[in-house]
Amino acid sequence: MPIDHEFGGQHTELKLSIVEGYLKAFTTALRPHFQHLWYVDAFAGTGSRTVRTERRGADLVEMPVEEAIERRRGSAQIALDVQPTFDFLVFIEKNTNYISALNDLVAKNLQRRIVIAEEDANAALKRLISNNSWRDKRAVVFLDPYGMEVEWSTLQALASTQAIDVWFLFPLAGLFRQATRKLTDIDDHKRAALTRMFGSNSWEAELYPDGDPDMFGMLPERRRDLDPKGLERYVQARLSELFGAVLNPLALPIDRSPQMFSLFLCISNRTPEAIGLAKRIGNHLLDPKRHLIVRSSAQ
Ligand SMILES: C[S@@+](CC[C@H](N)C(=O)[O-])C[C@H]1O[C@@H](n2cnc3c(N)ncnc32)[C@H](O)[C@@H]1O
Repeated sequence: MPIDHEFGGQHTELKLSIVEGYLKAFTTALRPHFQHLWYVDAFAGTGSRTVRTERRGADLVEMPVEEAIERRRGSAQIALDVQPTFDFLVFIEKNTNYISALNDLVAKNLQRRIVIAEEDANAALKRLISNNSWRDKRAVVFLDPYGMEVEWSTLQALASTQAIDVWFLFPLAGLFRQATRKLTDIDDHKRAALTRMFGSNSWEAELYPDGDPDMFGMLPERRRDLDPKGLERYVQARLSELFGAVLNPLALPIDRSPQMFSLFLCISNRTPEAIGLAKRIGNHLLDPKRHLIVRSSAQ
């Protein structure tokens, strides 16, 4: 009995097609130069995703739609299918039920080198990075969490390899919720989550600057003035402190405001050749105009 993993929406399809496009271009460009090309899926899921379409009756404009349940490829399966192939794939997943689905995926691909790690993505990634030499390898890591699970220290470790390109679906709506308008509304739980995500408490002064005192010398209440786009720029600036380059992200969902996620490509390699290549491929894939045109011509 296959395990159902339902998540995301329209934007999930787009996110996965962008990452797939990058993986294909990555192995095509680097295969002649590197013997070791790795793919690491740090929030791997099951390898597939269940898409449910609700039954809908006809109305004056639309035809009726029958209920349908469809199984599509998730990121782990997509990475396995990429040609030229990755030499080594690592699937990290915390949920035991999903691990059994990933084991089935391995059983169907016994000729491939695949490792499954049942543990927290942050711990597994840090160990993988410190236990390997990165000079002779290039890798893509996909960070596709539900929420704010990715720690700053994990991003630091990834950036330090200078060999890994990181696709990061950043939970902008989660940040918006934790970083409440008024600083005084941030409880200990939210404060800890923000500090884990940004690596120190510098976010407090950066997102909630002191205002000027009024005529009686009273300081105004500290508030976050940044809107979602401003927060996205803040996140990009912070990621740029760690990585060789961070491309302008794609806001997802593409047709809804405010955005829920920002899809980032962060390049740890600092050489102009590596950054140039990743930018050529990544900027094309992340260009919002391209996706809006595809959507409207498909309608
Ligand atoms: C959005 S889903 C990933 C979907 C997957 N990329 C795909 O395309 O099929 C997020 C996954 O992360 C897993 N997860 C959540 N927290 C985790 C953690 N701290 N470490 C590892 N996996 C985690 C969840 O069980 C879930 O399967």
